Amino acid sequence: MRKHITVSAPGKLMLLGEHAVVYNHPCLVTAVGQRMRAKITIFDKPVFELHAPDVKVIGYKKHLNDIGIGDIPKGAKFVEIAIKNFYEQYPFKGGVKVETSSEFSALFGFGSSSASTVCIVKALSMLYNIRLDNKKLFDLAYKTVLDIQGKGSGFDVAAALYGGTLYFVTAGKVIEPLDVKSLPLIIGYSGIKADTVILMNQVSELSKDYPEIVKDLYVQIDRLVELGKTAIEKKDWQSAGELMNINQGYLESLGVSTGKLSAMIYEAREAGAYGAKLSGAGGGDCIIALSSKETKQKIITGIEKAGGKGIDVETNVEGVRIEL
Ligand code: PMV
Repeated sequence: MRKHITVSAPGKLMLLGEHAVVYNHPCLVTAVGQRMRAKITIFDKPVFELHAPDVKVIGYKKHLNDIGIGDIPKGAKFVEIAIKNFYEQYPFKGGVKVETSSEFSALFGFGSSSASTVCIVKALSMLYNIRLDNKKLFDLAYKTVLDIQGKGSGFDVAAALYGGTLYFVTAGKVIEPLDVKSLPLIIGYSGIKADTVILMNQVSELSKDYPEIVKDLYVQIDRLVELGKTAIEKKDWQSAGELMNINQGYLESLGVSTGKLSAMIYEAREAGAYGAKLSGAGGGDCIIALSSKETKQKIITGIEKAGGKGIDVETNVEGVRIEL
């Protein structure tokens, strides 16, 4: 037996609601045009092989019985644990070879780990002919994220699976697509790699010291996500931008912005953005700005003046799909 399939899943950008979404509040996320591709082959020999040059994993190989055991290179973790979780749930035992390649750098914070996890569960369910709807695939992929990170909302897994622009509540309690075609977003990459788990832990420490204040911040973020959902569906970019600015203020309060992110955000606003904020955990990675066609180039120049790199992305794209 030897069967293979190639699948791809999009990266993501958090629009509003990061951090609060880890604690039972909603967020808005959009899937971006840059995709992760994975070719998955199953065969009789009980081995797991991974070739993921983008994250410097080349020729990684182990016996299927050792999967999830021992030292696992960082770049192999999500793929390896996703396969382990799949085989624990569905007792097939074929060898698996995974070859991944990404259209975006793992450094951007576009969610390469969750996109590759989604590719694995989708591909294995297809290869073994198990009918799993998106919610079942979500639960499997989300378990993998929790096994590795300990915490996280799963918003990135949902974006990779469902695509589009989603209203999402912690752990997939609500996953609701927004009725929108695309968003006039500009990305500013800070050049600094953020560690999501460290930032989540930092926020959780802050909330231990100031539980009432942090709880109130989450409630305010929850409110602005609800308003943001309506604004985006109405294409009211002015209001959506203002809400992004307010959200950025709360993220500053949570202590996850940095001087460089803030500098890029202020340059984007001064160049005429409707609004700008950091996107994701903070500490680095990217900012997003909402722009009109006329201000787009000025905003990119502003972001570059603050030492960032402007990146053009397509938003609201299709979720995981079979390529070959
Ligand atoms: O750093 P990113 O882009 O993976 O975003 C993390 C967003 C958080 O809300 C902080 C965590 C989460 O899992 O929702």
